[in-house]
Amino acid sequence: DGDVYKYYVDGQWKKSSSGKSVPIINPTTRNTHYKVQACTQEEVNNVIDSAKKAQKLWAKTPLWKRAELLHKAAAILKENKAPIAECLVKEIAKPAKDSVTEVVRSGDLISYCAEEGVRILGEGKFLVSDSFPGNDRTKYCLTSKIPIGVVLAIPPFNYPVNLAISKIAPALIAGNSIVLKPPTQGAVAALHMVHCFHLAGFPKGLIGCVTGKGSEIGDFLTMHPGVNCISFTGGDTGISISRKAGMVPLQMELGGKDACIVLEDADLDLAAANIVKGGFSYSGQRCTAVKVVLVMEKVASSLVKKVNEKVAKLTVGPPEDDCDITPVVTESSANFIEGLVMDAKEKKATFCQEYKRKGNLIWPLLLDNVRPDMRIAWEEPFGPVLPVIRINSVEEGIHHCNASNFGLQGCVFTSDINKAIMISDAMETGTVQINSAPARGPDHFPFQGIKDSGIGSQGITNSIHMMTKVKTTVINLP
Ligand code: G3H
Repeated sequence: DGDVYKYYVDGQWKKSSSGKSVPIINPTTRNTHYKVQACTQEEVNNVIDSAKKAQKLWAKTPLWKRAELLHKAAAILKENKAPIAECLVKEIAKPAKDSVTEVVRSGDLISYCAEEGVRILGEGKFLVSDSFPGNDRTKYCLTSKIPIGVVLAIPPFNYPVNLAISKIAPALIAGNSIVLKPPTQGAVAALHMVHCFHLAGFPKGLIGCVTGKGSEIGDFLTMHPGVNCISFTGGDTGISISRKAGMVPLQMELGGKDACIVLEDADLDLAAANIVKGGFSYSGQRCTAVKVVLVMEKVASSLVKKVNEKVAKLTVGPPEDDCDITPVVTESSANFIEGLVMDAKEKKATFCQEYKRKGNLIWPLLLDNVRPDMRIAWEEPFGPVLPVIRINSVEEGIHHCNASNFGLQGCVFTSDINKAIMISDAMETGTVQINSAPARGPDHFPFQGIKDSGIGSQGITNSIHMMTKVKTTVINLP
């Protein structure tokens, strides 16, 4: 069936023996736009076996050659940005320009990773024994970094290309092989991206890509004894993966409820611009989106007015037209967002705009006077709906932020650097941005969440380290 995209195993594109496919619904039209193979567990076994074999040789391939191939893949990916971006538009309704940016950013990430990998992995350590009590200088210890084996990469729908690449590139430069399980929405963009690696000429088997329903092959993949490391980005599924996974390193980037604290001395225009960008870009479907504004009562009305003026200018419509607000990824996601909005309505939040929805398209909405008894004060909508909580002290803001079970990022707007640092220290999040909206990038910055927001730290350097082990050889002198 030529209409169903094939999966990738042992350097070849294949149909699944299941004879089944998984439909990918275009969030805008709500019709099936593409289909991918529903891979079987036996096919997962084959992909992992093949990755395991290929990794042994790849680990022996000189570092500069690995880097060279990665640079080639980066160039091919960038050359093909248009068709890949087109898939993103159709599968996840990402605005057209942002879709292109995602692919270009991914190409840059691969190249940076190749360069960084050459530096990091090109160096080891040399230790001598007589620094530890009771030892003479009779032992020389040499350390180097060795690959970990087969890395399972599971990216989410909101960055099917970029968050796949942020796992694939560090894994490969470090001498690992990759098994990729793309999200259903975004799978075809991911398959195109994998084809760029295929065209670059990576050894067969080194990269495998299985598609299918998480409910059918998800646990099988994450609990597979052939997997040596899991790098996952997504929602609560990451918590259950962490509980079930074997004794392998885990890199988890999960949800967030990123707070934006606005103090009385803040530049309110700057804060408003960042709240709109942070809260509404890609319709709020980013783990790092601003998900709650905590503003000092004295400046709250003025800030809300400025935010509303900017919200009014957001364009709403199809991703093809490059609208700011586009349909959210699935109908169930839209229903969930609506549930949060209705709860806030019942509990008398102030609606700054009229709530409007058509299919998966939800118009941007700012909710003022949100209180802690409302679900939206704590849950992440992953949609274009942003709550504002008015606070009377900095402590109240920090308390709200730290009472969350999430701890990804946060931001603070103030012109007092001392206060900014004090708040950053007090916020229990992986990162705090001063006078800017939360964001993962630039992609070489460390990126991590605490509490339910994740395990480990990402960013190019940290990912390379996480996907390697230290190996030591000790020379014992007479
Ligand atoms: O959705 C989670 C992403 O890691 C956020 O990345 O800050 O570049 O949008 P971003």
